[in-house]
Amino acid sequence: MKYRRLGKTGLKVSEIGYGTWQLANDPNMWVGADLSESLRSLHKYVELGGNFIDTAWVYGYDEASPDRHPSEELIGKFLKESGKRDDIVIATKVAPKNWKWPAWQGIPVDEVYPEERIVGCVEDSLRSLGVDYLDLVQFHVWQDEFAEHDGWKQTIARLTKEGKVKNWGISVNDYQPSNCLKTLDTGLIATVQFIFNIFHQKPTEKLLPYAKQNDIGLIARVPLDEGGLTGTFTRETVFENGDLRKRFFAGKRFDELLARTDELKKLLGSEAETLAELDLRYILSFDEISSAIPGMRKTRNVVANAGLSDGRKLSGELLKRLQEHVWERNFYSDVDPSMKSTSYLGV
Ligand SMILES: NC(=O)c1ccc[n+]([C@@H]2O[C@H](COP(=O)([O-])OP(=O)(O)OC[C@H]3O[C@@H](n4cnc5c(N)ncnc54)[C@H](OP(=O)(O)O)[C@@H]3O)[C@@H](O)[C@H]2O)c1
Repeated sequence: MKYRRLGKTGLKVSEIGYGTWQLANDPNMWVGADLSESLRSLHKYVELGGNFIDTAWVYGYDEASPDRHPSEELIGKFLKESGKRDDIVIATKVAPKNWKWPAWQGIPVDEVYPEERIVGCVEDSLRSLGVDYLDLVQFHVWQDEFAEHDGWKQTIARLTKEGKVKNWGISVNDYQPSNCLKTLDTGLIATVQFIFNIFHQKPTEKLLPYAKQNDIGLIARVPLDEGGLTGTFTRETVFENGDLRKRFFAGKRFDELLARTDELKKLLGSEAETLAELDLRYILSFDEISSAIPGMRKTRNVVANAGLSDGRKLSGELLKRLQEHVWERNFYSDVDPSMKSTSYLGV
């Protein structure tokens, strides 16, 4: 496994990180996780040199058990079993108090991140993970206009001083990679997490150059387009009820996905043998990226993805050809307008 610098945090993280949204299931988003397989996958990941785990207060949250944080708790179990807490960089997220993904323009910051929300989530995460400090805490939605307000700045300064949180990051709204640049100018934020894959190349326009110049750690989320870029879906694929992919690839989008992945498969060969490999190598071909964090519950996916971290980058020629495969989808205007203010995909 190769390691990269996580921007000004100074931490060294494995370039294949571990996404855990689905690790312990998530109501109406992810179904089908076998928790013992998930636990084995975490052990395998660390055995293969992985050291960067991304989770969130909200992953697995169920209104029926509001004090439970299933993804963090399973990671906590793993940390206890492995005894490797200090070797692993743990990133989690503070959930917006108003439960709205994404944060829409004009929303008052006090409705999203009042002091008690930030502190409450951090305390819960420390407890669920069974740790006494968090390496990175990310805001789970963001609007750059929050940069003008001082409340959250004072709260994060206090939590940092208390030693509970080492570094702070922003997980930007879906498909809005630059909706954080004014906030980054404050110098208080060390990392940005954002969607990045062959279909969504917009981050290369502004965010990557900014990060390079300002030593911001970059975390590439949804690297496999929720599975769309693994090349494993076929016309026979049926998503279960409660699987977010049923909505993500609804209607015409599924046929379009298959047509697009058929085209991408024509580029497979000596540089990448599978679509997942092509896509993850695409992401890691950018030096600005600190880590790509595929969501994984299966040991075989951990082994396949970790095996790609060998320092081999795609050729300039292939990277250029991949520019023709951009597919920007805006779910928030594409779906029923009543979905606009609710969580559609964003957690
Ligand atoms: N707003 C936010 O902050 C936000 C939003 C979304 C995601 N995230 C973070 O980013 C992480 C990654 O995003 P994601 O999990 O939504 O999507 P993703 O990584 O694009 O796709 C995850 C899916 O790909 C499958 N997969 C992984 N490696 C594979 C391989 N080599 N071959 C075939 N299939 C493979 C996984 O299967 P199995 O699960 O069966 O192993 C999983 O179903 C999340 O887990 C979470 O940590 C953050």
